[in-house]
Amino acid sequence: MKTIPFLDINRQYKSIQSEAEKSVLEVMRSGHYVEGECVGGFEDAIAQYIDVKHAITCNSGTDALRIALQATGVQAGDEVITTPFSFFATAEAIAQIGAVPVFADIREQSLNIDPDQIEGVITDKTKAILPVHIFGLPADMDEINNISDRHGIPVIEDACQAIGASYNGRKAGSLGRMGCFSFYPTKNLGAFGDGGMITTDDDSLATIIRAYKNHGAGRNGAEAFEYLSGESIRSIETASQTPDGLYDPYKYYNYLIGGNSRLDAMQTAVLGVKLKHLDEYNSRRTDIAHAYLNAFEELPVTLPQTEYTDRTSCWHQFVLLTDRKAELTSYLSDKGIGTGNFYPVPLHLQKAFKGLGYKEGDLPIAENVCKKCICLPVFPELTDDEVNYVAECVREYYGK
Ligand SMILES: Cc1ncc(COP(=O)(O)O)c(C=O)c1O
Repeated sequence: MKTIPFLDINRQYKSIQSEAEKSVLEVMRSGHYVEGECVGGFEDAIAQYIDVKHAITCNSGTDALRIALQATGVQAGDEVITTPFSFFATAEAIAQIGAVPVFADIREQSLNIDPDQIEGVITDKTKAILPVHIFGLPADMDEINNISDRHGIPVIEDACQAIGASYNGRKAGSLGRMGCFSFYPTKNLGAFGDGGMITTDDDSLATIIRAYKNHGAGRNGAEAFEYLSGESIRSIETASQTPDGLYDPYKYYNYLIGGNSRLDAMQTAVLGVKLKHLDEYNSRRTDIAHAYLNAFEELPVTLPQTEYTDRTSCWHQFVLLTDRKAELTSYLSDKGIGTGNFYPVPLHLQKAFKGLGYKEGDLPIAENVCKKCICLPVFPELTDDEVNYVAECVREYYGK
């Protein structure tokens, strides 16, 4: 029997092994392990790729979301509107700063937040809207940005699954005030460990983000303090001191309570190599998705919507909706095929959010989708034979 894993990250590693190892070795030999040239070079390259002024790395997608929310001024007790159909971290990041996630139901066609549901849950406490481009398909950003403009509420994109996806010719991460990314190893652009990034065109936000990710220290901290407090501290006590390379005196003057969310230089060494292949990886994912779409056309399942002319997915996942989720999962497992269960529980019904007071039936579309979703293998290194085998097995299950 064949074995088709849901994801095999070793195959990608093998394809870039010598380039990645050389790049990591250079960092090891350089002695610059945190921040520095390699991190800066990667940030410049990815800012160019996404076409934004600033790309600021941090140590996870979860931190990217938390820091972006903080940078936009969200505080304890504020409300942030988001989707119930996402990875837990989307809403967790809101709760981490003491703010309240408020969920608006999704559209079944896109599985993304339904803009028509957003306005109904806006209150005077709403301080941000956090759409997720789920599975790599951009949310309805024109409608969301119109709501944002009407109410003066900033939009932060959770683009953790959407690197390389586009909307009206612009890349995910450049469609709101800030974009948040994850470089978790299973992502379309995956590090050899945890990693994340925030993108923005706004200079002052970029400085505030850089301050928050590094203890609110030094020049970024001082400038961020000025932006946030309106108090001028141009004659900061550090001005006369000069760093000597190893010892940076600025680092011991702190202006905000931030934290440590720096990304290791070794991760950016790997990410820089993979970034050069990202479009190729995403285009292979697209081909695989289209092979499945063709094969499943006449099956009694709901397939991902592909009729959009204004956006392209980067196919982080290929999901189909079926009334026979458990049976199909176990049938495929018996055939040696791995599947993903994204997501079994909508966020508003997660036990961790019990205190928010949601109950079953509150967000029926997300609840229904969670009962029906199965993700098939879609990683770029799958061979055509493997893709055909997966497609045949699904068809066979439906008697085709
Ligand atoms: C939609 C979404 N948001 C946030 C995250 C959190 O990213 P990380 O695992 O890097 O913290 C992830 C990925 O895991 C994600 O898929």
